[in-house]
Amino acid sequence: MKKKLLSVLLTGAMLASMFVGCGASTETTDNAGGGDAAKTEDSGSAGGGAKGTKVGVAMPTKDLQRWNQDGANMQKELEAAGYEVDLQYASNDTQTQISQIENMINSGCNVLVVAAIEASSLGEAMDMAKEKNIPVIAYDRLIMNTDAVSYYATFDNTKVGEAQGQFVVDQLDLDNTDKTFTIEFTAGDPGDNNAGFFFNGAYSVLEKYIKDGTLEVKSGQKEFSDVATAAWATETAQSRMENILSTYYADGTDLDICLCSNDSTALGVENALAANYKGKYPLITGQDCDIENTKNMLKDKQAMSVFKDTRTLASQVVKMVGQILNGEKVDVNDEKTYDNGNGIVPSFLCEPEVCTKENYKKILIDSGYYTEDDLK
Ligand code: BGC
Repeated sequence: MKKKLLSVLLTGAMLASMFVGCGASTETTDNAGGGDAAKTEDSGSAGGGAKGTKVGVAMPTKDLQRWNQDGANMQKELEAAGYEVDLQYASNDTQTQISQIENMINSGCNVLVVAAIEASSLGEAMDMAKEKNIPVIAYDRLIMNTDAVSYYATFDNTKVGEAQGQFVVDQLDLDNTDKTFTIEFTAGDPGDNNAGFFFNGAYSVLEKYIKDGTLEVKSGQKEFSDVATAAWATETAQSRMENILSTYYADGTDLDICLCSNDSTALGVENALAANYKGKYPLITGQDCDIENTKNMLKDKQAMSVFKDTRTLASQVVKMVGQILNGEKVDVNDEKTYDNGNGIVPSFLCEPEVCTKENYKKILIDSGYYTEDDLK
């Protein structure tokens, strides 16, 4: 892998130097309103050439707000840096994502940036990238069981979960209470390597309170496999919570805490509560600061979300792309946490931030992430 990477770096460095002074051409891959359909661009042979240095960006779906932002930020920043961009969304369908990546390779992408739908199912496409010496950066989600991935850039996924757990501890002052609080967990997609990190991060903070009886999981569902939500789907999280509410909380017992790993699942839980629950409204956690959830935060229907500024991640990845192509040392800050089954993948972990009704102005509005109008 090292040898292959070196030859890639050299090719990249040569390519980059070819374009110094003349500027790589840019081409807009405008997906706005274009749905998730695969889009193939024939831009010459692998290894770049006359049309410039091209970066393939494979995103999972347009259904969730965050990936639209990630894609748009990546495209904007890559184009500003002079790259040609092939941005694709795959409707959360792994086969589509595989063909999109293969098309990117065939159409001459020099680097691939991939946010995997299914961590372990991109084998064929990864083999092809490796064969053609095309470096792959795993974007936000690690790609498992392949040695084709050169780098990983994400937010600190364990910290995201820990921040959610710690928020519960602090808000309910769990260290100084005689009360027992009820809690239910809702985690993410088992095919997404991040989902376990989020859940384990939160659980590691809350476990001692479950053990000493300060927290009670009435459903008994405490394992990741019990609480996972396929495809992070709002509807799936909603129907699971509806079942939990009717089975364990219909007798008037309050549900105090819904520890949700992200905003799409939190939204499902919030919908279930709105339809089926009359007790005291629970503290609900989330992640991503999606618009709907931020609005709910302002209406006291969600207590917090973990903000992961997709602009920061995009800038970091664009920096890493440049470093790879220029044969420079690539900026990583973690070389121990993320083993993809084939060894540790050098990673850059960005910092997540807790966002609440109290600090959303500073975090989301002053930073230009949203306008107040977006949240109306
Ligand atoms: C991301 C989260 C996102 C989830 C669902 C995860 O891999 O890290 O930010 O909420 O996928 O799309």
